[in-house]
Amino acid sequence: MMPTFQWTTFDVGGMLPHDWEMDIHKAATGADFRDFPRTPVISREAADVQRIPRGRVHAHQVQQGLPWLHRLYRSSFLELAHRVGAGPVMAARDERYGVVLNVQQGTEMRFECHVDSNSLTALLFFTDHSLNEGGELIIAHDRTAASMAEIDRWCAVLRPQAGHLVFFDGRKNPHYVRPLRSEAHQRIVAVMNYYTKSFPESQRPRELNRHLYGDK
Ligand SMILES: [Fe+2]
Repeated sequence: MMPTFQWTTFDVGGMLPHDWEMDIHKAATGADFRDFPRTPVISREAADVQRIPRGRVHAHQVQQGLPWLHRLYRSSFLELAHRVGAGPVMAARDERYGVVLNVQQGTEMRFECHVDSNSLTALLFFTDHSLNEGGELIIAHDRTAASMAEIDRWCAVLRPQAGHLVFFDGRKNPHYVRPLRSEAHQRIVAVMNYYTKSFPESQRPRELNRHLYGDK
C-alpha cells in the first residue's frame, strides 16, 4: 500500500530570536493544564475516551508573551506556507485559533486523536525528543482510523526537533501525539492554522467555536 500522508519541513531555527528558549519555557509555565473533553466533529478517539490531559497556552497568551511568534505566523511563516500550499494561503482572521502552544508535561499527557479543521497546519517544534523518549506525532495513513491503536497500525512518525517547522494538510489523516516516557520531560509545540482559497476559514465548523469558546 502507498502512504497517503506527506509533509514539508523547514529548519527555521535561524529565524527565531536568540532568547526564544527562555521565552517559550516562560510561556509554557502559564499553560492551561487539565483534562480536556474530546472535541466535537474532529475527534478520532476510541468511543470510551471522554477526556485527554494536556496543556494549552491560549492564543491571547501567545500574543502577549510571544509577540515574535505571533508576528512570524502572519509574515515569514505565511510566506513559507505559500510555498507549500497550492495557491494563496491565509492566516486565520480570528485570533483565538491563529497560533497556540500545546504543552505536554510528564507521562500522563498526550494530544487527542483528531483530524484538522483547517486546510494547512504548521507545527513549530520547540523541544527535541530522541528515539524512545515519546512525544512523537503519529499520523495514520488509514483515513478511517479512530483510536490510538488504529492510527498506530499504519502511520507516519514525526519526531520533534526544535526549530523545525512542519506543514501538512491534516484534514483527512487522523493524528495524535504520544505521551512522553519521562516524568521530567516537557514537550512544547506551536500550532498554527492556515487556510486556502478552496477551503477558507468560513468552513471551520461552528460547533468547534461553540465547544472551545462558548460561541452562540
Ligand atoms: Fe492536528
